[in-house]
Amino acid sequence: MDFDQLLTPHLSGLEETLLQATLRGSLGVATDYAMTADAQNAIGRNELGHMVAAHLATGGKRLRGLLPMALVQAGAGPAEAALRLGAAIEMVHNGTLVHDDVQDGDRLRRGQPTLWTQVGLPQAINAGDAMLVAPLVWLLNSPHDQRQVGAQLAQLLGHAVVETIRGQVADVGWRLVQRPTVEDLLGVHLAKTGPLFGVCLQGAAILLGLPVANQHTCQRAARHLGLAFQVRDDLLDLIGKKGRGQPGADLREGKLTVPAVLAAEQDTEGFSELLQRLTAATDGAPLADAEVAQWVAWIGEHGGETAARTLFDDELAAFESLASSALGPGPAQVIGALAHRLGLLDG
Ligand code: IPE
Ligand code: IPE
Ligand code: MG
Ligand code: MG
Ligand code: MG
Repeated sequence: MDFDQLLTPHLSGLEETLLQATLRGSLGVATDYAMTADAQNAIGRNELGHMVAAHLATGGKRLRGLLPMALVQAGAGPAEAALRLGAAIEMVHNGTLVHDDVQDGDRLRRGQPTLWTQVGLPQAINAGDAMLVAPLVWLLNSPHDQRQVGAQLAQLLGHAVVETIRGQVADVGWRLVQRPTVEDLLGVHLAKTGPLFGVCLQGAAILLGLPVANQHTCQRAARHLGLAFQVRDDLLDLIGKKGRGQPGADLREGKLTVPAVLAAEQDTEGFSELLQRLTAATDGAPLADAEVAQWVAWIGEHGGETAARTLFDDELAAFESLASSALGPGPAQVIGALAHRLGLLDG
């Protein structure tokens, strides 16, 4: 089964729901306060709904938005609730990206200018704030007959947002660690990327009415998916498929990646030098293109890319096996197709 084909039928519903919420729902409708037309014009493109729409228009795979719908439909669960859950997770994910680009100083995402480069740091922070919180309100405002499950999903999502932020705090803070190990970096990666996938999988299990034990297995599966996904993200950056131009954008900005730490196992001195260069890059002296290319080559020559690929394959396989057993035969086909799609490493 082809994953993209599985997801396509759900895409227009998701986009419509996100757009409704952004332009006419809780993010778009201004509270009733007095403001002159002049003032409104001056605020113009920095208006909240407009900023959120501008970020969403940069696209992305919409994986976290579509996954709950694909899983719940494959298990014959409630489609409308799955759509609401997917839209909520996708919006939160995009909110974390708006903030992440501020934190990482990235000017490009998905091949397009990041929100902060367009509206400035203060307004991008405002937009990201709203994108993290509004989706919790959507879930809490579920139709009357789904209020209870809506509250359960909101609690799950709220918890995952805090865990993701904890991961981002660790990600920014790793620079204080003198000599990070593979375990250190994997811990950070897991914390950044696992929790929202946990909501996709456990949320689907809740909507399918599966037992608590299966829900817990979903959370374990999500940890493997989160790790696999972030290792994949590092690999995509290394081979130049992250929508940020040249390979090695992470290194240029002084960010340590899993392939780099794995290469350290074959060349500890080289790694010490890399750490010094990365520290210089985060202190405001980004690495020049030629040096980035040298470090990309160093990672390849010392087995970092190959070892990261093996780690990725192992984590992906663990995810597939756990999630398939927890969610049952119909959804397992979706899980298998997703694992296959991610394994292609093509962006
Ligand atoms: C990027 O996630 C950020 C990470 C958690 C690695 P995605 O690769 O899912 O981003 P989009 O939404 O498809 O652009
Ligand atoms: C972002 O990780 C993870 C979250 C936003 C939680 P990265 O910083 O590696 O993501 P990209 O590479 O910018 O997409
Ligand atoms: Mg980033
Ligand atoms: Mg980051
Ligand atoms: Mg990355």
